[in-house]
Amino acid sequence: MVNEQINIKEKILELLFLAEGETVSGVKLSNALNISRVAVWKHIQSLKQSGFNIESQSKGYVISDHEDLLLPFCFGPEFKEKIFHFQELDSTMDKAKSLAKENAPHLSVVIAENQTSGRGRLNRKWFSSKGGLWFTLILKPDTPPVLSYIYNFAASLSLSRSLNRLFNIDVRVKWPNDLLLNKKKLVGLLSEMETRGDMVEFINIGIGINVNNNPQEYESKAISLKDVLQERVSRRLILETFLGDFKNLIQNPDCSKIIGQWKQMTSTIGSQVRIETLGDIFEGLAIDVDETGALFIKDETGKTKKIIYGDCFHT
Ligand code: BTN
Repeated sequence: MVNEQINIKEKILELLFLAEGETVSGVKLSNALNISRVAVWKHIQSLKQSGFNIESQSKGYVISDHEDLLLPFCFGPEFKEKIFHFQELDSTMDKAKSLAKENAPHLSVVIAENQTSGRGRLNRKWFSSKGGLWFTLILKPDTPPVLSYIYNFAASLSLSRSLNRLFNIDVRVKWPNDLLLNKKKLVGLLSEMETRGDMVEFINIGIGINVNNNPQEYESKAISLKDVLQERVSRRLILETFLGDFKNLIQNPDCSKIIGQWKQMTSTIGSQVRIETLGDIFEGLAIDVDETGALFIKDETGKTKKIIYGDCFHT
């Protein structure tokens, strides 16, 4: 019974989505679903309460942000079976971990409209209110753990390219894989991996993109696409473009090629940086990133240091 109710709600959303912003009458919905108009009305009220932007009009119902919807049926055939969409989760990282263990396929995407315990690197809290694009990609590549880093570089490369192409902006990658716009944080990436024997079982890459939200409420050095473009943009367009580009990029991952292309997109090389690791702080001029993704910095004495992980700040 509960599943039946969920299916009816999904069907209502799908019919409203397919109408592309046109009004769908209560009669049409009740005929298509074989339920009464009162039942349609009740389902619509419950969908509104869950956060869907459905307008009730004299002639029926309309979904106002159909271009922004992230439900599975909104995606093309390649991805619709791999989209796991939730109105609210603690963190897409936790859900993705359990789905990865429950056999979710390679390139599954776990999306939440809102996260109550979104997390960032180094155990930081990640504020993730409605309007942002918060998702975790589940990857199951046939690869040894030492090569897993390449998937993080591929994700930040692919996303920066997609955003620049879509919106004609100049997003840059900050080592290891934040995305900056106008020197402010637009995107954060967080990756978690589990291994089985000497192979990767799954790599989950969590991606938080400030799209139509207001990140400055929590973090002054953050920015959203809406801030820069002065209009709301479609999160689905971003996700679809990124997934297509990323899938092609990792089909035959060539580390030197991916790092080479990533280096074209980074603003870290050539910048003065401060790197904070769990136990140390390093400062200097970032001079290179090698094929393994390690960053080289030159300190004020002219000594070069190789850094393999850490949080990077452009100073
Ligand atoms: C960082 O910059 O510190 C990484 C931030 C990663 C945030 C994303 S939002 C989707 C996914 N779920 C989470 O809880 N975190 C990641």
